[in-house]
Amino acid sequence: MRTMIRDLLDSKEASGSIQAAGWVRTRRDSKGFSFLEINDGSCLGSLQVIVDQGTPGSEDLSKMATGASVLVEGRLVESQGGGQRWEVQASAVTLLGTAPDDFPLQKKGHSPEFLRSIAHLRPRTNLYGAMFRIRSRMSFAVHRFFQERGFHYIHTPIITASDCEGAGEMFRVTTLDPTSGAKQSYDDDFFEKPTHLTVSGQLEGETFACALGSIYTFGPTFRAENSNTSRHAAEFWMIEPEMAFCDLEGDMDLAEEMVKCLVTEALENQDGDLSIFEKFIDKGLRQRLEFVASNPFERLAYTDAVEILGKSGVKFDYPVEYGQNLQSEHERWLTEEHFKRPVTVYDYPKEIKPFYMRLNDDGKTVTAMDLLVPGIGEIVGGSQREERLEVLRANMQRHGLSEKEYGWYVDTRKFGTVPHAGFGMGFERLLMFVTGMQNIRDVIPFARTPGHCEF
Ligand code: 4AD
Ligand code: MG
Repeated sequence: MRTMIRDLLDSKEASGSIQAAGWVRTRRDSKGFSFLEINDGSCLGSLQVIVDQGTPGSEDLSKMATGASVLVEGRLVESQGGGQRWEVQASAVTLLGTAPDDFPLQKKGHSPEFLRSIAHLRPRTNLYGAMFRIRSRMSFAVHRFFQERGFHYIHTPIITASDCEGAGEMFRVTTLDPTSGAKQSYDDDFFEKPTHLTVSGQLEGETFACALGSIYTFGPTFRAENSNTSRHAAEFWMIEPEMAFCDLEGDMDLAEEMVKCLVTEALENQDGDLSIFEKFIDKGLRQRLEFVASNPFERLAYTDAVEILGKSGVKFDYPVEYGQNLQSEHERWLTEEHFKRPVTVYDYPKEIKPFYMRLNDDGKTVTAMDLLVPGIGEIVGGSQREERLEVLRANMQRHGLSEKEYGWYVDTRKFGTVPHAGFGMGFERLLMFVTGMQNIRDVIPFARTPGHCEF
């Protein structure tokens, strides 16, 4: 049985007989023996293996080039050289698979753009291996965060007949064939009505919060917005908690607590994976994360944010005006230059927000909130929901939503309505924040963006 390299490197004692397997990172040949560095993806570190000439299997050494896969048997001994505590003195090596000269990762220092074009191989690099281990552990931390707080995990549907955000940026789901040339209607389609990939699990999540109290969803979401930016993907993962008996204040508290908790998790528990981002991506990463984990976030109303931006004297590409959405440049200035910490902006004009947000007493703003972080901008968007039946009906009418189609949603307000609130956190945006990676395409295994769906 092979032992993971993670466990070998962590070993408390030497061992007379171990088996390890992995991909060769480098091989160095000396007189009478060779060094193999092998990595099995279990951790950032690689295992150094010494193969003496004449060891069974050593006749294949010349084929154990960078990228080849090997099986090693031998003794785990204290390393003579610096850099690592343990190494393996091989008693046998087996070549599992060669990696000929066209293996694209022979050399280090490839550009992120090139590595995206070989997304099926890039997890074999140190940086992307670390990235996707962090992604895995952060997923686990998300579940733990909610489970420890009594939230129930709800699997909201991926195919949906509703449009949560009302922005019409949806991918159609259909079995109709656009090339058939035949006259087709929705009656001929699989669901006999227009259906799409979900842009958010919120509406379905709300119905469960109004039954199980506190719930969360965590799954893939899809947006057909044609914005080719470093922060938008057509397929991304969103975490959406929803809480009954909760107002905007409680919602903002949870979002802040969650960001802090996940950042702390990244700092404390990444088996050294974070160090590679500190070294190669962002020298100030740890310091920034520590600051975020231990300092209060700023909170201010949209109106105040607009005023501060207006008085800033900065020439933005997009002018700042009450009633307009904050642009990424505005969000980043607020958090990076002005407050120098994460900022939650709340109470936005109702005109620029979806139908489900609760109308404030001023009749002009809704209980929306966006949490902005340095380097990225919006990472969380949420609100208290409109729980008053008549106000919700009026909102729906204003947004052109028919009560016939959204009757199931309206029912939650008809039968035992309760104040409730929730938010959505973009999982990739969170990962960008904790690793310092600048492009969303580099934190998701296989990125889908306009014009790009390889693999
Ligand atoms: O602000 P958004 O659109 O809010 C919602 O969808 C609400 N229904 C959430 C809720 O209240 N339950 O999206 C929430 C978050 C954003 O703050 C952003 O982090 C992320 O989802 N996001 C994207 N991430 C990557 N690519 C995209 N195209 C994204 N669109 C939104
Ligand atoms: Mg938003």
